[in-house]
Amino acid sequence: MAEEILRLEHIQRELELSRDVRQTIIPNLSLTIERGEFLAITGPSGSGKSTLLYIMGGLDKPTSGRVYLDGEDITDTDEREMTRIRNRKIGFIYQFHFLLPEFSALENVSMPMLIGGRLTRSETRERAMMLLDMVELQDKYSNKPSQLSGGQQQRVAIARALANEPTVLLGDEPTGNLDSRSADNVYRLFDRLNRELGQTVIVVTHDEEFANRAGRRIHLVDGRIESDRRLREREPAPAT
Ligand SMILES: Nc1ncnc2c1ncn2[C@@H]1O[C@H](COP(=O)(O)OP(=O)(O)OP(=O)(O)O)[C@@H](O)[C@H]1O
Ligand SMILES: [Mg+2]
Repeated sequence: MAEEILRLEHIQRELELSRDVRQTIIPNLSLTIERGEFLAITGPSGSGKSTLLYIMGGLDKPTSGRVYLDGEDITDTDEREMTRIRNRKIGFIYQFHFLLPEFSALENVSMPMLIGGRLTRSETRERAMMLLDMVELQDKYSNKPSQLSGGQQQRVAIARALANEPTVLLGDEPTGNLDSRSADNVYRLFDRLNRELGQTVIVVTHDEEFANRAGRRIHLVDGRIESDRRLREREPAPAT
């Protein structure tokens, strides 16, 4: 049975540019995403892709409409509670990586686990190493972001996003600043996470090839879903 993981109902997002000038970024958008889906979101610059992704991850609130994450209505959840839910359920990869510059790769990946407080220090360290190994940074544990290439920094950000086994992995053009080889590695990693672990992945991208490799593809124009195509079946939930 398909299990609904994210549901957006009649989302509208307006911006107040000045006292009497309002801009509608998303007029009325509804969308349901199931566990194990690999969704790519494409669309021209300014079409509302980031806004949509931020709303999905509870980083932005819609002006009206409702957002359900993993069966829970998070529309009116306050910031404090939202931070807690995000730490547990959302792995977010920003367009620019936002690693903490003072900390090593290992420490950056450990951070969400230390905040989550569910693992001991040594468990945290072990899992951080495992995640860095997975993104092939086994020899960069101690490097600070400034001592890593752009592609390596982005892979640290991905490892960090996966730290707390998020229900949903959200990426906002996670390969935007990478050369094609590094970008390809990142795609392959997402693909593997989705196929092997049943990880639900939602990625904004303007890479056509990548978008076509996803299981489902949504094209956004002026905050509206212009097309919603299923390219392959979602991955079955992994055995637990
Ligand atoms: N902080 C803001 N202040 C004013 N306008 C904003 C702000 N954030 C977004 N917008 C407007 O909202 C619209 C959608 O922006 P959004 O960032 O969601 O687009 P996008 O599809 O992610 O674009 P890109 O591909 O360039 O990243 C844009 O037209 C932009 O003008
Ligand atoms: Mg954007």
